[in-house]
Amino acid sequence: MTDPDHLTIVNHPLVQHKLTLMREKDTPTAVFRQLLREISQFLAYEITRNLEMGTKRIETPMEEMDAPTLAGRKLALISILRAGNGLLDGMLELIPSARVGFVGLYRDEETLKPVQYYFKVPEFMDERMVIAVDPMLATGNSSVAAIDLLKQAGATNIRFLCLLAAPEGVARMKEAHPDVPIVTAALDSHLNENGYIVPGLGDAGDRMFGTK
Ligand code: URA
Repeated sequence: MTDPDHLTIVNHPLVQHKLTLMREKDTPTAVFRQLLREISQFLAYEITRNLEMGTKRIETPMEEMDAPTLAGRKLALISILRAGNGLLDGMLELIPSARVGFVGLYRDEETLKPVQYYFKVPEFMDERMVIAVDPMLATGNSSVAAIDLLKQAGATNIRFLCLLAAPEGVARMKEAHPDVPIVTAALDSHLNENGYIVPGLGDAGDRMFGTK
């Protein structure tokens, strides 16, 4: 059973239609990348729903008014390398003043644990809404490790945005970081023996960058 406070699935017809096109194995790289960019904006819209608001006194051509504006520090988008980068551009179009950080992790072949190779995030992480982005929430190992690092850097208000999630990854995140809500376009069936999401869309990084 899914917990609506922890996991939000964006069921919008345009998102679901675009996701189907992305899943198809013959979708070309350029189209895949464009669709990811488009879906990232719907997901960003959903995940920023309750950003802190204030008001600003402005003058319209008709009269003065107290108009709503975003309050507080600029939010931070954190890309979990490398596939997270495929979500960044679209999100930045919607939130151009967001600050951006990067977390690079690889899997140690002996311990199978994620090891950090790059970490660069904006300052004042404790004062920002922080949105970690990675298209695929599969085992959850790298997402959990990335969020551990963001918490060590001071972040307390963290959300996680992905395109596809597996039940295993959602459960792992909920266990390790119950305070981090997840927004995704779909919750798929399961992981296969290689840790790929099924039915999924294959390797998101390879498909968006045309590697392999
Ligand atoms: N990473 C991917 O790119 N695809 C998966 O299915 C799982 C992890």
